[in-house]
Amino acid sequence: MGKRMIIEAPAKINLILDIKGKRPDGYHELETVMHQISLADRIILNPCASGIKLGINSGLVPYNESNLAYRAASVFFQKNGFKGGIEIFIEKNIPVGAGLAGGSTDAAAVLLGINEIYEYNLSEELLLEMAAELGSDVPFCVLGSSALARGRGEILTPLPSAVFLEIVLVKPDFQLSTAEVYSKFELAKVEQFPDTRAFLAAWGRGDVEDIAVNMVNVLESVSIRIHPEIAVIKERLKELGALNAVMSGSGPSVFGIFKERKGAAQAAETLRKWYSEVYLVSSYKRGDYDGKKEIIAGRP
Ligand code: C5P
Repeated sequence: MGKRMIIEAPAKINLILDIKGKRPDGYHELETVMHQISLADRIILNPCASGIKLGINSGLVPYNESNLAYRAASVFFQKNGFKGGIEIFIEKNIPVGAGLAGGSTDAAAVLLGINEIYEYNLSEELLLEMAAELGSDVPFCVLGSSALARGRGEILTPLPSAVFLEIVLVKPDFQLSTAEVYSKFELAKVEQFPDTRAFLAAWGRGDVEDIAVNMVNVLESVSIRIHPEIAVIKERLKELGALNAVMSGSGPSVFGIFKERKGAAQAAETLRKWYSEVYLVSSYKRGDYDGKKEIIAGRP
């Protein structure tokens, strides 16, 4: 039997998010840039004789077979045969229902972890296939770092990881349902579309100001209608010195990009007067979340 393993499971933000149209399968055709940040859950995996057991330190996440991390283990063993069982413990740090892929990153960590603990040695391609079955954001969470995602989110082009961003993230005290936000999306109501080519050119040059200027999320057109507070947070971040601020995914989290850590820290301090969940974060680097060493997820 393999050894116990602790895996860092980082959150993601969407630096741009564009929707090209609705697909026959009911999903939306996306063009989005996803980027892992230094806010992470920790997944503790313990091999055991048989079965799948789940523990979690948060009452906000389902504690049963509908949990995406549980489903990841279940899909993994069903497809590849049981070599043993697994106990999964999730230390939840990423806000739930926030547009940060909290559930998806836990599921990705479980796929990567079981593959390693039990030495299945599955290829990245097979892991990504299982990930796509679990959810649209899971393949990116398996791949890690930064990537352009198309299709449902599963067609991934990795981006160079040279860019390092200083970020302030605000999670307002309400949640949004991804399915609801997508179902209310209307192309005609979008005021601003991202220029993906311009964004990628800025990324290629490592030009943080130009990266920030080109950040746009078309789903804001829905989420701000449901919760106008999202627009208020964007404005506050910009007034406090962010180069730009946008919503992540289907929301409601909003993040601002700052030129320097110091300015970001000051802005975070001020925002804590209004919001209880404010995170001073940056681009994710493997192992930099809490200094623990026994970590496999999230490529450097
Ligand atoms: O794939 P996942 O289960 O994470 O998606 C949650 C919901 O988000 C889907 O049920 C769908 O309504 C919506 N969605 C979409 N188009 C995408 C991704 C998600 O419509 N590309």
